[in-house]
Amino acid sequence: MAEKFNHVTFTKNFLKNATRIKNPDEMLADAKSDGLEKTLGVWDLIILGVGAIIGSGIFAVVGIAAAGAADGSTLGAGPALIVSMIIAAVACVFSALCYSEFATMIPVAGGAYTYTFATLGEFAAWMVGWVLMLEYAIGFIAVACAWSNHFVQFMQGFSNVLPAWLSNPPVWLTNDVFTVGKLVSENPDIHVPMFLGIPICINLPAIIIVLLMTAILVKGTKDSAKMAGLMVFIKMAVIALFVIAGAFYVRPENWAPFAPNGVEGIFAGAFLIFFAYIGFDAIATAAEECKNPQKDLPIGIIGSLIVTTIVYVLVALVLTGMIKTSGSVPLDFLKAPMAYCMTIAKQNWAAGLISIGSLAGLTSVLLVMEMAATRILFAMSRDHFISQRFQKIHPVFKTPVLLTWTVGILAVVGILTLNLNVAAELCNYGTFTSFIIVCVAVLILRHTDPNRQRPFKVPFSPITPLLGILCCGGLMVYKSLQAGSSALLFPVWLGIGAIIYILYGFIRNRDNENKIHRNLIHGNSENEL
Ligand code: ALA
Repeated sequence: MAEKFNHVTFTKNFLKNATRIKNPDEMLADAKSDGLEKTLGVWDLIILGVGAIIGSGIFAVVGIAAAGAADGSTLGAGPALIVSMIIAAVACVFSALCYSEFATMIPVAGGAYTYTFATLGEFAAWMVGWVLMLEYAIGFIAVACAWSNHFVQFMQGFSNVLPAWLSNPPVWLTNDVFTVGKLVSENPDIHVPMFLGIPICINLPAIIIVLLMTAILVKGTKDSAKMAGLMVFIKMAVIALFVIAGAFYVRPENWAPFAPNGVEGIFAGAFLIFFAYIGFDAIATAAEECKNPQKDLPIGIIGSLIVTTIVYVLVALVLTGMIKTSGSVPLDFLKAPMAYCMTIAKQNWAAGLISIGSLAGLTSVLLVMEMAATRILFAMSRDHFISQRFQKIHPVFKTPVLLTWTVGILAVVGILTLNLNVAAELCNYGTFTSFIIVCVAVLILRHTDPNRQRPFKVPFSPITPLLGILCCGGLMVYKSLQAGSSALLFPVWLGIGAIIYILYGFIRNRDNENKIHRNLIHGNSENEL
C-alpha cells in the first residue's frame, strides 16, 4: 500500500537536508582526487588580484566619485576622494582577512560558495553560489559591455586614418538593445534594423572579447595568468605615466576646498569607488590551483589590495590636483577622467596611451571574472548541484573546458539581452552579499570547529569580521535606499535561485545520495549520476 504523504516528515527531511553541512575534510579529499592542476605561485596570485581589481573603477567611475554625477544624483567627494578611497579599502580589508582565513584552511575551488557549505549548509551554499554568479558572471557581462564602449571610443580617435565603418561603426553593432532603443527614441533619424518594432542589436566588440577570453581560459590557467600579467603590466605602466606626467600639472589650489560636499560627499564617493576594489576575492576561487596555498594566498589577497590602494590614492591626488572637482566638470571628464586631464594638459599622446591602458585593464578584469565564475560552477558541479558533465577536464590543457565554454556562451546571450547599468549594480549586490557571508562564516566555523588548523587567522576576531559585516551591510543598505530598478531585481534574483534549488538542486542531491546508498549496498563504488 502506498505510504500516505506526511507534511511534517517531509518538512523535517527537507530542513535536515537543506542545512546539511559538508565537512572541510571531505572538500579537501574531493579536491585531491579530481582537482585542478596546481600551477599558481605568489606572483601569479598578486597579478591575478591586481588584474581583477584595477579596471573600469579607476579608469571611469573615479570621475563621478570625485565630481559627482552629471544629473546631480550622486554627490562628489572632491579632493577628499583619497579619504573615500581609504574608507572603501578598509571595508574591503576586513573581508579580505576573512577570505584569507578560509582560503588557507580549505584551499579548494569555489571561494565563498565553498566556505558557506562548510558552515551554513547546503541551501545557503547554493544561494551563495547563485549570488556569486551576479558578481562574476553578470559582472563579466557588464565589464564586456564597458570594454566595448572604451573600444569604440578608442577607435574614434583614428577617424582620420581608418574607414568610417571601423572608426564609427553603426550603433546597433556596438550597443545593447536598451541603449539603442533610447538613442532611437531621442533621434529617430538613426538607422537601426528592426524586428517586430524591437531594434536588432549585436554588440560585436563585447561578443568578440568574451569569446577570446573564453578561448584563452580554456587554453590553460597558467597561460591565462601570463596574459593577465601582460595586461597588468600595460595598465600599471599607463597609470604610472599618468601619475608622473600629471604631477607636473598639479596646482595645489585645486585641492581647496578639500571636501566640498562634506561627509556625505565622502561616503557617496566611498560607495562608488568600492566597485573599483571588487576582484581581490576572485583569488580565493583559484585556491585549488595554488602551489602553496597556505603561505601564498593571504599574501596574494592582502598584497593585491595594498598595491591597488596605493595606486588609487596616487591617481586620486594627481587627478584632483589637475582639475577643480569642487564645481561642475565636463562630461568627458566623467567618462574617462585620466585621459581628459592629459588632453587639457595638451599631452594628447599620453591621453592615447591611457586609452590603451584602460582597454588592457578591462581585459584583465574580464579574464579573472570569467575564471572565477567557472571555478565556482566547477565546485557546484562537484557537489552535484549542477551536472557532473561540467567536471570534464581538457586532457591536454587541464581546464574545465565544457564549463568555460558554457559560461562564455551564456555571457554572449547576456550581452544580447542585458542592460550595462543594471548588470553593474547587480554585480555590486552580489559582491556585498558574498563579503558579508564570508565574515559570518568565519565567526561560525571558529565556534563550531575551533580546533581545525588555521594557517592564517583573522586578527582581532570577532571584531574584524563584525566590522566587515557592518561596513558591507551599511553600504548595501545605503544603496538599497536609493530608488533604482536593481534594488528590486536583487530579491527577484534570490527568489529565482531559491525556486531552482527546491525544484532542481535539492532533488539532484537526494538522487545522488540514494545512488551512493544503493551502490554501497551492492558493493559498487560508482557514485556518479
Ligand atoms: N574592480 C573592477 C573594476 O574596477 C571590477 O573594473
